[in-house]
Amino acid sequence: MKISPFRIEQYYAVHEFTAPHMLSSSDAESVAVADLLALEPDAAERLFAQRLGYTESAGSPELREAASALYGTTNPGDVVVVAAAEEGIFAAYHALLQPGDHVVVETPCYESAFEVARSAGAEVTRWHRSAAAGWAHDLDALEAALRPDTRLVYINTPHNPTGLLMPRAVLDRIVELCAARGAWLFCDEVYRELEHDPDDLLPAAVDLYDRALSLGSMSKTYGLPGLRLGWLASRDRTALARIVELKHYTTICSSAPSELLSALALRHRGVFAGRSREIVLANLVVLDAFLERHAERLSWVRPNASTIGFVRVAGLEDTATFCEQLVADAGVLLLPGTVYDEPTHVRLGFGRASMPEALGLFEAWIETRS
Ligand SMILES: Cc1ncc(COP(=O)(O)O)c(C=O)c1O
Repeated sequence: MKISPFRIEQYYAVHEFTAPHMLSSSDAESVAVADLLALEPDAAERLFAQRLGYTESAGSPELREAASALYGTTNPGDVVVVAAAEEGIFAAYHALLQPGDHVVVETPCYESAFEVARSAGAEVTRWHRSAAAGWAHDLDALEAALRPDTRLVYINTPHNPTGLLMPRAVLDRIVELCAARGAWLFCDEVYRELEHDPDDLLPAAVDLYDRALSLGSMSKTYGLPGLRLGWLASRDRTALARIVELKHYTTICSSAPSELLSALALRHRGVFAGRSREIVLANLVVLDAFLERHAERLSWVRPNASTIGFVRVAGLEDTATFCEQLVADAGVLLLPGTVYDEPTHVRLGFGRASMPEALGLFEAWIETRS
């Protein structure tokens, strides 16, 4: 298998645990184990008694039930647990693709969405969204990219890195286009339930189409990335069985304590989504004022979901040096758009309670430079 280095993860491997002020994270403020255990009276006792044996490869029945409750049409048997979304992307692509298959991937994207498809031997066409068009979804371009035998279409909503939701009509049209070709629709929904207005929640792909896979995760909306736990939901049991076969070669099964804690958190997921939303909305007020003060230099299409947004830095052709200087001088970590092949932008994260402090240091740094 040939696979290129994952640029986002490489950048964070260098800086994430040394830069004192994170201003680009995509996960919401993390949750303490004690906060999880306080949710149900017997939770601590259950965790202490948990035997650290192997678990079922498809996931514990308790967790599959809790995850399937996110959707309208699924049963616990329509869910396979994975070691967070990253394993889900790997397993889904390698389960569904053969060398030479044609795949369309919405870009810019979380890099594994593109690279893992390529590593499976697929021929990958980008369905590109451009900053100049306000990141609008160009459905004509999608139709032009599709072939009669396109095997799979990857989309991501809410979207990394723009923090934008896909309009419902666009999602419906994509389902139609996939159905007309019998193509798989692989929908990365790891930021789902973190719409800034809860009324904007889109249906999950798994509820719209029988050849769809919805990818979910504990990492983002619920602030629990340290559990390393995610899932794939599909009404196609053959695809799920193939994914489990691959999982036998990666992790075999998930971590037993993580499964227990994830099931617990998902049963109370409104608590965590609500907490994350509160932080995000408060931070957006601070960000709106900041972007207004720096409108001649910084701009974005205001995100309507998730913890992240993509900021255009006027006057720079490549934000990589800008970000390196910022972290070296002020210890503030932005993510340069170069890692998304969008070098005029930076990713800004606003899911952490410490965001206003990091933003203040960023602003002071900008002002000393101008
Ligand atoms: C769109 C998208 N998919 C998948 C992942 C991987 O998430 P996890 O931590 O659940 O592996 C990320 C993480 O940033 C992401 O942004």
